[in-house]
Amino acid sequence: MCGIIACAGVRRASEILYKGLCDLEYRGYDSAGISVRREDGIVTVKRAGRVSAIECARRLGGDAGIGHTRWATHGAPTDANAHPHNFGGFSVVHNGIIENYAQLKAELAARGDEFLSQTDSEVVAHLLAKYYRGDLKEAVIRTVRRLKGAFALCILHEEFGGFAAVKYRSPVIAGYGSGCFAASDMPALSGLADRVAVLKDGQIAFAGENGFTFCDFDGNAVSLTFSPLPPQLRSGGKAGFPHYMIKEINEIPAAIRQTAAAFEAEGCARAFAKLRRKKFSQVIVCGCGTAYHAALAAAYGGEELLGVPVRAETAGEYRYRRRRKLSGTLFVAVSQSGETADTVEAARAAKAAGARVIAVTNVPYSALTSVADVVVPVRAGAEICVAATKSYCGQCAALGLTFCALAGGRHYGRAKRALAEAAAMCADAISGCAAEDAARACASASAVYFIGRGADYPSALEGSLKLKEVSYIPGEGYPAGELKHGPIALIDGGTLTVAVITDPALAEKTASAVEQVCARGGRAAVVCAEGCETAGLRGRAEYFIAIPRSELFPAIVAAVPLQLIAYRTAVILGRDPDKPRNLAKSVTVE
Ligand code: M6R
Repeated sequence: MCGIIACAGVRRASEILYKGLCDLEYRGYDSAGISVRREDGIVTVKRAGRVSAIECARRLGGDAGIGHTRWATHGAPTDANAHPHNFGGFSVVHNGIIENYAQLKAELAARGDEFLSQTDSEVVAHLLAKYYRGDLKEAVIRTVRRLKGAFALCILHEEFGGFAAVKYRSPVIAGYGSGCFAASDMPALSGLADRVAVLKDGQIAFAGENGFTFCDFDGNAVSLTFSPLPPQLRSGGKAGFPHYMIKEINEIPAAIRQTAAAFEAEGCARAFAKLRRKKFSQVIVCGCGTAYHAALAAAYGGEELLGVPVRAETAGEYRYRRRRKLSGTLFVAVSQSGETADTVEAARAAKAAGARVIAVTNVPYSALTSVADVVVPVRAGAEICVAATKSYCGQCAALGLTFCALAGGRHYGRAKRALAEAAAMCADAISGCAAEDAARACASASAVYFIGRGADYPSALEGSLKLKEVSYIPGEGYPAGELKHGPIALIDGGTLTVAVITDPALAEKTASAVEQVCARGGRAAVVCAEGCETAGLRGRAEYFIAIPRSELFPAIVAAVPLQLIAYRTAVILGRDPDKPRNLAKSVTVE
């Protein structure tokens, strides 16, 4: 969603905030702004566009300040709607949604307040000014108690030397280093803070001359424990790659190995052995977007392995579904960020209905982990590109280990060996993949369809999502068998169909779908695992991409060429693969 950052007790606050916003930009890039507190008062620079649009703000100076990078929800991406919002000596940045903003705005307008933006966030500055009687803490508490929705706030006041930060259903991390800091995530604090603390819902931080003090929404003092910033959450920059997307694809083998190592080190196998003894009657695996595709890939093999029904659900649908009691259900919530509102709420709903909740996430301090009974770490490292790449492979690895550990017996050992092999196969596929020609064909296609059968269907969905989000070329992912039931009407010479074939038992079936496409003048590309090539397939498809075959983790290895095709297509078309239009990395609103 949006990214927020604050600093106090520093020299040249504006430089720190600008750099922090560059690190947070993947959370939203519709507009950006900075306010700093100087001897002459609060100075604000904000503009529509990317963070680079406020480059001039670096020179503002100041000893404290706040910054914001926005993914627009209420009001178009304009200068006026950019944060910070200032009123009555306050300057405020907000991540989340104030659900009762219209009612608050009407109330404040009735007493004569004028509003300059269409945002929900501006009411916060007005409420603060309304309640301020010389006591910042009192004004902040009275304000936050009026707000409904989700809000992470950073607040500056002209008479206060530091900043206040508020956390409710959107993340805030506090950090100590050569000053006091707060931000939406840990990578933005790397290089600034060496010790960090994660605020809980309903907590407020005040950063002043003597460091941090914390209280709850009732004003009671609370204490937070600061610990070293985890090394895997430091953002390492692009490391010589032209984009984060290709850097992160290259990090897939490490993401798989580190995820397997963390599963072992954090005792997940033991936790699941205990859970197995408690018996469960069904498993629901849930997530959004790419995380849902990882859930679906796991569900394909899961049922046979666990001997109980296993199904995948999109979190946005699941959370509003009427449901029976879920005692005896394992609910596995999958989320890179651990912040996705639909996934977190789906997990809360499942837990309230009696399910045991397992969180599979790349962010150990995220909201999802606080809902879960068991946390399964994905150790993909900080993922900055908005399009998920290495985290998808990490999720598939973590889910595979989870199911195999739940199944017990020899399965867990087998999964560990298969993952080590899959990591090596991905490394080979990355260095040897002939994605370039297929990417050129995608770049000139009017639409690109992805098909697969069985466990290759989730790969088709994910290949299609990846291409759409970074290239903007229309297309769909279909089960290969569904093609002839309607979508084949879309096939003509301008379209490209990419078939994923990694299961020898189903290879003939998908190959015949390729035949059907070619018979209608459509162009075809095939991503084909070793041992799955059927007679004549190489001659029918214009592009043939051979990959190694992983029996247990086909989705992980197939992801590599599909991600490379999407990346190269975006580059050929001159798109920015790291920051696709209209998207943000974490979707913390409904
Ligand atoms: O952080 P999450 O894994 O919960 O995010 C879920 C989706 O928003 C995310 O996977 C999205 O689909 C990505 N843009 C995919 O590349």
